[in-house]
Amino acid sequence: MTIVSCSHGKHIGSLIARKLKSKHSYLHVDKFPDNELSIRFDCKLKNQNVVLVQSFYGNISDCIIEIMFAAKTAHELEAKKVTLVAPYFPYLRQDKRFHKGEAVSLNIIAGLIDSYFDAVFVMDPHLHRKSRLENIFKIKSKKLTANPLMAEYIKKRIQNPVIIGPDEESYKWARDVAEIIGAESRILKKKRHSAYHVEVKLNKKIDLKNKNAVIVDDIVSTGNTILETAKILKKLRAKKIYCICVHGIFANDALNKLKKAGINVVSTNTIPNKVAKIDVSGEISGILK
Ligand code: R5P
Repeated sequence: MTIVSCSHGKHIGSLIARKLKSKHSYLHVDKFPDNELSIRFDCKLKNQNVVLVQSFYGNISDCIIEIMFAAKTAHELEAKKVTLVAPYFPYLRQDKRFHKGEAVSLNIIAGLIDSYFDAVFVMDPHLHRKSRLENIFKIKSKKLTANPLMAEYIKKRIQNPVIIGPDEESYKWARDVAEIIGAESRILKKKRHSAYHVEVKLNKKIDLKNKNAVIVDDIVSTGNTILETAKILKKLRAKKIYCICVHGIFANDALNKLKKAGINVVSTNTIPNKVAKIDVSGEISGILK
């Protein structure tokens, strides 16, 4: 097996390869002055089981073009099998036509992955209306989760935690993590008005006296979901407020906004950032064995 770190997989690809004791190489990616991409492999591909590691953050469109070029090239150069490992996979929230005339982006992206890869492994995909990866991809797919690692992190460092899911969709992370720890949990209600404007409501009073509130969610993007949730938890006099998430996108300076609001934030390393303290490379290498 050869693990190839793509431009947005460098932070984790080598960790995965080390755990598997397999070959590792970096994909060369260059940009022409007109923004066209050029990619080049620096490793043997013929008869190899090639695993491309790419996390889709920042310039997601470039990330997609890059892996399409890489997968097609690997096949042309006679790789035996080409697998995509996506610590963070994008477009999963756009799984239906929310507005008239809108693209169902997820189906289009999934179709591309199906046509270029033999298998795809995704860390904590945001599955909603399509509840399984098998309903999204035609190729072999597998979902991985960081829940046990997030639970272990909380258990070791935070005393008297109450796990808070900020919205109905977060129960897959918040409730599962709470169950692993054996902690109390509560799922709040969220109304999303736009990509930037959310309203979070408490459905039933929670007793947070002498307790640490730990918000657990899969994605933190603008951070507004967490900021709105934290306002409620502050009013309830939580001792400290933590946020533990899988995918720390932290768009528009979200991390600083969260810190300024007094929230202690930690994420996994599916996306590199300053608070990526939970390493998921072991979970990923486990599935590739
Ligand atoms: C959505 O359902 C996700 O689980 C997150 O709650 C959401 O993506 C967070 O977005 P933001 O940080 O922009 O509020």
